[in-house]
Amino acid sequence: MNKIYIVHCWDGTKNDCWYPWLDEKISDSNNKVIRFNMPNTGTPKIEEWVKELDKQVDEIDSNTYFVGHSIGCQTIMRYLETKEVKRIGGILFVAPWLELLDEAVSDEESYNTAMPWLNTPIDFEKIKKFTNKITCIFSDDDYFVPINQKDKFKEVLGAKTIVVSGKGHISGEDNVFELNEIYDELINILKKKVLILSFSSNKVNEDSFIPNKKGLTFSCVEYFEQKIIESSNYVEHICINNKNIKRCLACGARGWGQCKDVHKCVIKDDFNDIYDYMSDFDVYIFITPVYFHEMSESAKTFFDRLKRCDAFNEKSNIKGKDIVCVACAGGSGSGTEETLNSFNTLNYFLNTNMIGSLASTKFNFENIKNEIDKIIKDKF
Ligand SMILES: Cc1cc2nc3c(=O)[nH]c(=O)nc-3n(C[C@H](O)[C@H](O)[C@H](O)COP(=O)(O)O)c2cc1C
Repeated sequence: MNKIYIVHCWDGTKNDCWYPWLDEKISDSNNKVIRFNMPNTGTPKIEEWVKELDKQVDEIDSNTYFVGHSIGCQTIMRYLETKEVKRIGGILFVAPWLELLDEAVSDEESYNTAMPWLNTPIDFEKIKKFTNKITCIFSDDDYFVPINQKDKFKEVLGAKTIVVSGKGHISGEDNVFELNEIYDELINILKKKVLILSFSSNKVNEDSFIPNKKGLTFSCVEYFEQKIIESSNYVEHICINNKNIKRCLACGARGWGQCKDVHKCVIKDDFNDIYDYMSDFDVYIFITPVYFHEMSESAKTFFDRLKRCDAFNEKSNIKGKDIVCVACAGGSGSGTEETLNSFNTLNYFLNTNMIGSLASTKFNFENIKNEIDKIIKDKF
């Protein structure tokens, strides 16, 4: 279940602007919208608003999303600054600002109210660690927010930016009670991008007990793909066995290479491209056959290098993200436990969040399908 917190604007309430419309349009069995009133809305104070948001939010996780409007966006950033870093699902800012036009602070009270928000610095590097899915929507005729804020948010948060035409401060005062760009972009942010990495070469297996005669690894890949698409999320699959991935050379002094500092591997093969590509995704599903009670050779080779490049990477785009691990064994199922234990170790070093760990054999594939259904229903 996704939890979407909407933080209203200065002098606003939870029932103003486009908030009730968005709530009604987005709420369903998988999306819960939480709207609430901030204290002293006419004279917002950082501590009071951050405290209220903190009170409203349960524990944050990968299914937590924030939508802010104007000063509500600042509140979200300042709230996240106070929390221990944990991956959240994403953020949508509508008419956010770090600087204001004179009109917004034209009288003494507005000026005094705005000053702490304008002058208290924000740790953007920390905010970026919560999510790389941040979109900001601006209007080209906003009378409070200078249009250069578009470039500012791109620069400090790496945000995607959208500019709509003629919507003022995108508020009720501008008669904006519905805005498709807000809905469409939130739907986009809510869509989880899932990358499946598989580690088997076995595409066709005439002895397979599985009806489509595919290997077990590929059958699991296909079932995940089908269910992820059905759940309106996005999925891609890379079969690592079809890629050129050489073994780690432990090339430098004391067994380390440039991977420790530069977080790239010196070997010129497909690894660095795949490692970069992983940044774009929200969830990783790793599916390997079990060979000799371990993950396959291609899996070991790939993860050896991934650990070295990512485990000590302060700017990792993998850290904190959700992973699902699947061990596909033969009839006995022996060795699945050891294989899944290795994934636990991988999870520890990558600092990821294991949301599923499945031991599949050719005899329990039907049960595994149920477990996959459950992971997608509960966690996506
Ligand atoms: C070299 C090799 C070693 C294997 N070792 C194990 C094992 O330790 N435990 C097990 O249950 N199955 C073992 N198997 C069987 C495979 O795990 C099983 O066939 C699995 O379905 C392979 O995945 P695939 O269908 O994607 O090829 C082994 C198979 C091979 C080829």
